[in-house]
Amino acid sequence: MANLFEKELQKESIFKDRDAISQHYFPKELPFREKQISEITKILAPSLKGKKPDNLFLYGKVGTGKTTVTFHVMKDLEEFTQKNQGKAVCNYINCRNHNSKYKVLIKAVKKFFPEKNFIGYSAGFIQEKLMDYCSKENQVILILDEIDKVKDLDELIYSLSRSNDEIEKGSISIIGISNNLMFKEKLDPRTKSSLCEKEMIFPPYNAEELRAILNSRVKLAFISGSVSDSAVNLAAAIAAQESGDARTAVMLLMRAGEIAENSASKKITDLEVQKAKKKVEEDIIFNMISTLPEQQQLVLKAIALLSMSTKGIKKITGQEEQGVLYSGEIYEKYKQLALSLKESVVSSRWYRQYINELEMYGLILTSASGPGIKGQTKLIKLGFPPEKINSILENQLNK
Ligand SMILES: Nc1ncnc2c1ncn2[C@@H]1O[C@H](COP(=O)(O)OP(=O)(O)OP(=O)(O)O)[C@@H](O)[C@H]1O
Ligand SMILES: [Mg+2]
Repeated sequence: MANLFEKELQKESIFKDRDAISQHYFPKELPFREKQISEITKILAPSLKGKKPDNLFLYGKVGTGKTTVTFHVMKDLEEFTQKNQGKAVCNYINCRNHNSKYKVLIKAVKKFFPEKNFIGYSAGFIQEKLMDYCSKENQVILILDEIDKVKDLDELIYSLSRSNDEIEKGSISIIGISNNLMFKEKLDPRTKSSLCEKEMIFPPYNAEELRAILNSRVKLAFISGSVSDSAVNLAAAIAAQESGDARTAVMLLMRAGEIAENSASKKITDLEVQKAKKKVEEDIIFNMISTLPEQQQLVLKAIALLSMSTKGIKKITGQEEQGVLYSGEIYEKYKQLALSLKESVVSSRWYRQYINELEMYGLILTSASGPGIKGQTKLIKLGFPPEKINSILENQLNK
């Protein structure tokens, strides 16, 4: 009998280079981002002449190329410094995994003293070490991706900019990146003016732009002739309509490719893209929910549980609306859940903030109670089937 793997590897594949259509791939060309690339380059260039670059805040919706563009510029800066023995150093940190001042500092210092273990030392000591490194004439650029995830960001920014003022040689600059458009407004005014010395927006891509981005990825990723033009157009149109997000566009073709791979025709047509749409929506919701802070997950869980158990709201007019909940009852349910999991309970002010953010992510819809209901309250409805949301949360909250 033929070897299982031999058989598997002999199967014809429509993928030429599967990685090239993965969302983690860094393309060499980044069309439609020339302006951002050249502006970031201009802002960072002083570091090569021994000067401190301005801090920079990059923001824009998901999948608009913020991380990719930053890596692209960072690579060239590193290449240039290596060739010219310069002293500009980039240090990239994803704050989703390092979400407090302490964790960011530990991660940052590790790059410069890889053989030392700093866990357990005070934040002050670690920061001093970091500044020691900078003051050896190094211009350090700390890139904090998903910066909105840092819990005590005000303190981090404040103490880093103060330390920077204290050293005579070298410097530390910050590039903050976020897709949370409301986040900037929540910052302490001092942090805001320090972090946002320079700012840059990454606008969503339109269908035409997404089509061009996809076409260049298709050439790299798939065997020629296996993807129809109309499938590429459809994927671009879907992603443009939903959010202008290049990640969704790329994921659609990746999933469509997997579906086509298992079909007889081995071709990506509109049909495969349509089938992929459902899968990608699920991937995106899953991803979004799994990266929410725990307290927001609890609020979402309260909404999912109530949506499954409540019949609906009866208005004075006698009409009944399915799946619609009162903000107050959700808060009560959330408190119960938090207590049962031995979590702290946030104030109703924070709770309202969480509701606003869940709405911004498209996970819930809200409206004012309007006519037919006594008093003024917010009405809330889940944007997706409660059973699905609940099962994702089940795995998350029990981790
Ligand atoms: N101009 C572009 N050309 C080619 N590919 C792009 C471009 N912009 C984005 N992409 C691709 O889209 C995907 C998402 O980009 P990226 O991760 O940079 O988005 P982001 O703005 O950082 O999103 P998030 O806010 O979710 O972190 C990646 O696979 C990237 O390669
Ligand atoms: Mg990113």
